[in-house]
Amino acid sequence: MCGIIGYIGKRQSTPILIEGLKRLEYRGYDSAGIAVFHNGEIEIRRCKGKLRDLESLIKEEDLSGSVGIGHTRWATHGKPSEENAHPHKAGGVVVVHNGIIENYLDLKVMLMKEGHTFKSETDTEVISHLIERFIEKEDEIESAVRKALKELRGSYALAIIYEKEPGKLIAARKESPLIIGLGEEEFFLASDIPAILSHTRRVVFLGDNEIAVFSDKKMKIVSQDEKEVIREPKDIQWNPVMAEKGGYKHFMLKEIFEQPRSITDTIRGRIFQSEGKIFLDELNIPQKDLSKIKRIMMIACGTSFYASLVGKFLFEEFCRIPVEVDLGSEFRYRDPIIGKDNLSIFISQSGETADTLAALKEAKGKGSRVLSICNVLESSIARESDGTLYTHAGPEIGVASTKAFTTQLAALYILALYMAVETSKMNPQKVRNILEELIKIPHMVAEILNQEEKIERIAKKYFKSQNFLFLGRGINYPIALEGALKLKEISYIHAEGYPAGEMKHGPIALIDNEMPVVVLVSEGITYEKVLSNVEEVKARRGAVIAIANTSHKDIEKRVDDIFLIPRTLPLLNPILFTIPLQLFAYHIAVLRGTDVDQPRNLAKSVTVE
Ligand code: AGP
Repeated sequence: MCGIIGYIGKRQSTPILIEGLKRLEYRGYDSAGIAVFHNGEIEIRRCKGKLRDLESLIKEEDLSGSVGIGHTRWATHGKPSEENAHPHKAGGVVVVHNGIIENYLDLKVMLMKEGHTFKSETDTEVISHLIERFIEKEDEIESAVRKALKELRGSYALAIIYEKEPGKLIAARKESPLIIGLGEEEFFLASDIPAILSHTRRVVFLGDNEIAVFSDKKMKIVSQDEKEVIREPKDIQWNPVMAEKGGYKHFMLKEIFEQPRSITDTIRGRIFQSEGKIFLDELNIPQKDLSKIKRIMMIACGTSFYASLVGKFLFEEFCRIPVEVDLGSEFRYRDPIIGKDNLSIFISQSGETADTLAALKEAKGKGSRVLSICNVLESSIARESDGTLYTHAGPEIGVASTKAFTTQLAALYILALYMAVETSKMNPQKVRNILEELIKIPHMVAEILNQEEKIERIAKKYFKSQNFLFLGRGINYPIALEGALKLKEISYIHAEGYPAGEMKHGPIALIDNEMPVVVLVSEGITYEKVLSNVEEVKARRGAVIAIANTSHKDIEKRVDDIFLIPRTLPLLNPILFTIPLQLFAYHIAVLRGTDVDQPRNLAKSVTVE
């Protein structure tokens, strides 16, 4: 986690750093700090708490200077405190860091023996001391940084300045994201794109084990083996307003309401409905290889894992290929059996989730072809993959994943259909029918969003409850899991997702008049069975909130509250069922007064194990 920012150029760096940190705050927000060259010295200001606390701290101060670095922290090593906040300084070396240095304790012991004194509990401080150690021998920051990096095990994105070389800024990365923004004789560093979008759209993605040095209005990128790297900048299409709240009270609400657009963007340009064709050249898989795939592995974390569970239904139904789904954090520790005829699909909004990335490397190492579904261009997972299907959700700032999830689902429909078409597993008329319904989904999502008030009313009735159950069946079971996760994350209410059929095997014991149960009721083969589950809850005085795609009297008379969603093909239901659950969690969180966009203890992108 953590967000880092840097600036070198002709403008005042402090406002640029603070503005960038505001956009990065979703990555961590337990402390923040900046370091600025001011009158030939490096001034560091940092404090525990949110960015606004740092802003108050520096409000009255003159921190003028055109070179600076900044950081917003999500604690891994050491509690949130001023001492543990970045930047960290040793000698004249000042560092901000995102990632984890795995061998920091060994290095710390070695450095302490040599006389270095540590002021924080962080792994990061080791980096500044290590560079200082080499500087004592080298007298030059660039080669000292290079030598220090060779000693580090783990992941890092770093921005470094050095008191004795005031016109220089150094950046380095390994397995943690870092981008370089190019301006007019000025350079920006940031953990992600929205942090610098108001200044430039021209971006260079720093590669793993590369170091970038900025001085004399120039940039030089060198690889670990000291070869100069020439990398073409990319033009980013996102505009800064896309990363702002756009009039909504929270990013999460804005992102929920963006879904008709984001789902359309993810589908658009990739399907030719009347022909039943799907275009996915970006996958880089020749047709002959697709037919050889005997098994699909799908791996992800959190909400993206629930998208994978939906994906299993789609690939098995459309392509008749067996699918196994696993969590990134479990996959690599169980010596998974993977063959060359396996396709491994990794799903990640950020493309930086450490467990998913590590699992990807594991699968790749075992010879599997690797595809990813990502939202962030050129993210680590995308770059490690043989092919990436980008979701076009745009930047997702709210910690709770909303539009990222539904665009992942949209991407999975397209991918599963594409494979079915390419391997002739599905009748072309059926493909056309599904595509015809798929392109209607964004309108149906908009229809649901127009009824936000109904959901808000239901939320008002239940927001004081301390526990919730979410029940779904078949392809909607992962949506019950997602509904429960959303509620947990942002309202801190205990919620469990269950396959409805499992209720009588345990969770039914929890039901009483204080346990509302959200039931996803879908037409289809399990409809009657889910209605029986509703009866079972009612018989135990539990309140039932039904999200249903049929207004049949059977349901209305049995449940306490009902929200109707439009009808579509049963396999396309997951996106539609998700929307009311997002709104439900959102309104409950607002009513409980929690920090919706930055819920406690969470960070947007989990870049550590
Ligand atoms: C979702 O609301 C969560 N914040 C979280 O579970 C998230 O989906 C998970 O950390 C995976 O992130 P990724 O999609 O960026 O890999």
